[in-house]
This record gives sequence, structure tokens and C-alpha cells, in this order.
Amino acid sequence: MTKPIMNMHVEFLIERNSAARLDEPAPNRSELSVMLKSAFRVPDHAGLKPVRFISIESHRLEALGNVFEQALIKRNPAASESQRERARKSPMRAPMIIVAVSKITRHAQVPAMEQRLSAGCSAYAILLSAEAFGYAGIWRTGDASRDSYIAKSLGVGENEEIIGFLYLGTRIGEPKMLDKDIPENCLRHW
Ligand SMILES: Cc1cc2nc3c(=O)[nH]c(=O)nc-3n(C[C@H](O)[C@H](O)[C@H](O)COP(=O)(O)O)c2cc1C
Repeated sequence: MTKPIMNMHVEFLIERNSAARLDEPAPNRSELSVMLKSAFRVPDHAGLKPVRFISIESHRLEALGNVFEQALIKRNPAASESQRERARKSPMRAPMIIVAVSKITRHAQVPAMEQRLSAGCSAYAILLSAEAFGYAGIWRTGDASRDSYIAKSLGVGENEEIIGFLYLGTRIGEPKMLDKDIPENCLRHW
């Protein structure tokens, strides 16, 4: 018997898309604990678990906005009021942010690059499982992910990196699928 060429899990992966506009509700703590399980079922060479997450729920987003604004002022003391406001308000674009942090362990067989890739898979697993629960989200980075003041304020250590701010919540409006053509030469049967 020939296997069907489409399956609901694959279809889910193909249909997945990000949502920049998000509102309440966001995943609750029970849902989040299930989502975390998916993040720790990703490929992980030598089981180093090179990722951790920081959850910022709605009542802490304003505090995060203040950290973003302070970080901007430190990076650019001449930042205009509108730039400051933009930084301050940027975490409010969702009712919840999960910060994905990679933590690299020195290991003879597992270079840092492999650990970062695994951490990225974990971040993606959080996005996918949120979507599977009926939520939506978007992975953002930008200056904030590379800012040492923000890292310190969030308790991100010297051997760690913020690999993404996963904005999560409920999609506002209809999904807008971006055109993702499969590049012509992306597969060669050798
Ligand atoms: C590591 C990484 C960092 C990203 N950073 C940003 C970002 O800072 N701002 C942004 O608008 N999109 C960012 N994106 C892209 C979005 O997450 C998203 O993939 C894009 O909007 C396309 O939407 P789609 O996922 O529905 O195709 C990033 C993606 C990745 C993988």
C-alpha cells in the first residue's frame, strides 16, 4: 500500500506562520510546561541541553520595556523621545515573551555551533507547540538580543546568549502567509 503523500503533522509544519500582531490570551503556565517538553525533545548532541528560557508574563512587560529604553539610552545617548518610546513599547507587542537563551558548554565532541543549532531548534519547538495549542507567535532578535545591559538585567550570564525573544499570544487578524517558494537548487539527489 502506498503511503499518503500528505499527513496532518507535515501539513501543520507547512502551514505554520508567524504573527506580528498579538493579543491576550497567551499560553498559561500549564500549557507552557508542556511546550517546554517539546523544547527538550529536539536533537541535542551528547544531551547537553544547551538552552534555557525566561518567561515574561504580561505584568512584567512594562518593566522589560523600561530595560529596553535604558539599554537604548546607553547605546545611543542622543536617542530621540520617539526612539525611546518605541524601545519602551516594543515588548507590549504581545502579552507574553519567552526569551530563549543558549548556553554553550565546552565539549570535545560538540562544538558551540552544534549547541546553538540545537538551542534554535528548541526555540522553534516553543513556537510550534504554542501554535499547536491555538496561539501564535514571532521570533524576534534585533539590537535587544545583543545588548549586554539587557542580558544582565534578565540574568543572562557571560557564557550565555539571547538567541531570540519569542513573542507569544493570540493572533490578531487572519494569518498572512509569506510566499516561501522552495529555492530551485535546494535539493539535489546525489
Ligand atoms: C533568529 C531569527 C531572528 C529573527 N529576528 C527578527 C526580528 O528581529 N524582527 C522580525 O520582524 N523578524 C525576525 N525574524 C523573522 C520572523 O521570526 C519570521 O520568521 C518572519 O517574519 C517571517 O514570517 P514567517 O515565519 O511566517 O514566514 C527572525 C527569525 C529568526 C529565525
